[in-house]
Amino acid sequence: MTTPAEALAAAARTSLHAPSVFNTQPWRWRIAGDTMTLRADRSRALAATDPDGRLLLLSCGAALHHARVALAAAGHQAAVERLPEPGDPDLLARITFTGEKPADARAAGLVAAAAVRRTDRRAYGDRPVTEEQLTGLRRVVEAEGAYLHTVRPDQMPMLGISAELAGEAERLDPAYREELERWTARPAHTGDGVPPSTAVRPALRRVPVRDFVPDGQAGLDAGDGYDAGAAYVIVFGLSDRPADLLRAGEALSALLLTATADGLATAPLSDAVEVEWPRQLLRGLLAGIGEPYVAVRLGYPETAAPLPAAPRREPADVIEIVAR
Ligand SMILES: Cc1cc2nc3c(=O)[nH]c(=O)nc-3n(C[C@H](O)[C@H](O)[C@H](O)COP(=O)(O)O)c2cc1C
Repeated sequence: MTTPAEALAAAARTSLHAPSVFNTQPWRWRIAGDTMTLRADRSRALAATDPDGRLLLLSCGAALHHARVALAAAGHQAAVERLPEPGDPDLLARITFTGEKPADARAAGLVAAAAVRRTDRRAYGDRPVTEEQLTGLRRVVEAEGAYLHTVRPDQMPMLGISAELAGEAERLDPAYREELERWTARPAHTGDGVPPSTAVRPALRRVPVRDFVPDGQAGLDAGDGYDAGAAYVIVFGLSDRPADLLRAGEALSALLLTATADGLATAPLSDAVEVEWPRQLLRGLLAGIGEPYVAVRLGYPETAAPLPAAPRREPADVIEIVAR
């Protein structure tokens, strides 16, 4: 018989697969009996790239969603309180194990997807993402309390320009360059950061992909595709309040895992929301009705060549189990 603490620990381990900005994995779990808490780890914040910590909260939300899905897949029932202590804003969630229920097959599919999902920065091919797939993904995002906008063909140039402007502004910012270099040259034992082997060499793209190693050599060639069949979506919400950002991170995770389970390759794009003017342009794509949180490219890879995996931190460095 699995104890509540064991069930929660297994869910926390699944959350280590979650995507995070620069692969910073800025969260910590603490398990005590039948309760587990999720904390933001501000020592992993990106002061230059993400000074307000919006991408940090999205990343933590993705970890929270991974843990929730793992519990549901294993047939565990849990109550989730988000930002439970107003005086302790880094305490992002408290999950309490409340009992057993039938295992959720859909959640099991998402847990399987979590283990194989990788950010694929290469160009995708001509095969289009269908309206039906996009509608399904929009529902999944809305079920998590956020919104999804599919960038229309007439809006594509503006998305491309936004990413280009943001990339240019960041390239000229020494603090950004220093931060990028730090997180792309991490020693292997840290289990974090974006290894150049997973980055893509610059090429002409419909929407530019972040150049992670401007002074070095990225490991991946963009390939023969032109992202012609790719869909670009924007996860957005009503405000930049922490509660909305945490929810949006859960929605981002639901989107990425559902798309992966559906055979799609995925790549988040956040540079355009990191710089104020491009972010303003993205607000325009949403007709001013919301705050853009992160864009995602979805599609079918042009190549079957395997993608190298990004590293992950050791469970013992992220998950604390307290004896009670
Ligand atoms: C909030 C957020 C923003 C991200 N922004 C970008 C981005 O702008 N460009 C990019 O190539 N990847 C981006 N990523 C993907 C991460 O770099 C990636 O998740 C991390 O390096 C771990 O790799 P994996 O997704 O293959 O496991 C983002 C991920 C998150 C959660």
